[in-house]
Amino acid sequence: MDVLEAISTRRSIRRFTGQTVSDQDLDVLLRAGFQAPSAHNRQPWHFVIVRDKETLDCIAEFHPYGKMLPNAGCGIVVCGDSHQQAETGFLVADCSAAIQNILLAAHGIGLGAVWCGLYPKEDLTEPMSKLLGLPSNVIPVGIIAVGHKGEQKRSADRYDRSKIHLERW
Ligand SMILES: Cc1cc2nc3c(=O)[nH]c(=O)nc-3n(C[C@H](O)[C@H](O)[C@H](O)COP(=O)(O)O)c2cc1C
Repeated sequence: MDVLEAISTRRSIRRFTGQTVSDQDLDVLLRAGFQAPSAHNRQPWHFVIVRDKETLDCIAEFHPYGKMLPNAGCGIVVCGDSHQQAETGFLVADCSAAIQNILLAAHGIGLGAVWCGLYPKEDLTEPMSKLLGLPSNVIPVGIIAVGHKGEQKRSADRYDRSKIHLERW
């Protein structure tokens, strides 16, 4: 799949077959995450791989929109290290770029994935940090539920000419 096709056909997948994601596939996804652009090329991201069913169940309990995680079989928590990037806005942008790369890579290899937000919701970042034992300088930005697709979705054309401003607003 070429990059434009991947971008235009990717959708959030929230239903999964429950089949495990192989180490080989996971490696592809992580490598895509590491290739993201980052402010000053600081690469402040860390990836916590969660496959343990009890941990995924626990996340689904406190995350109101993360109920698909246990069935996905794999969660990738994308975290930012504030010692590597002190500007939180950049930290979040960098980790978000890594998340998007992972979503596109998952789609490219035929897996389904959905980005579940964490930061800046303290009621989500706090229990996540506690559960995963994150150091205080590490912010969990988002968790990606990834697995084998249990649903198919059509691509959505969101092109909107009214949001394009030539030279000035
Ligand atoms: C910052 C962010 C947080 C999101 N959080 C969730 C979430 O917690 N649960 C969920 O099911 N989807 C979540 N999504 C996915 C969006 O709902 C989804 O991208 C949007 O509805 C567009 O659909 P598409 O991804 O299929 O194109 C999030 C997306 C972003 C960018």
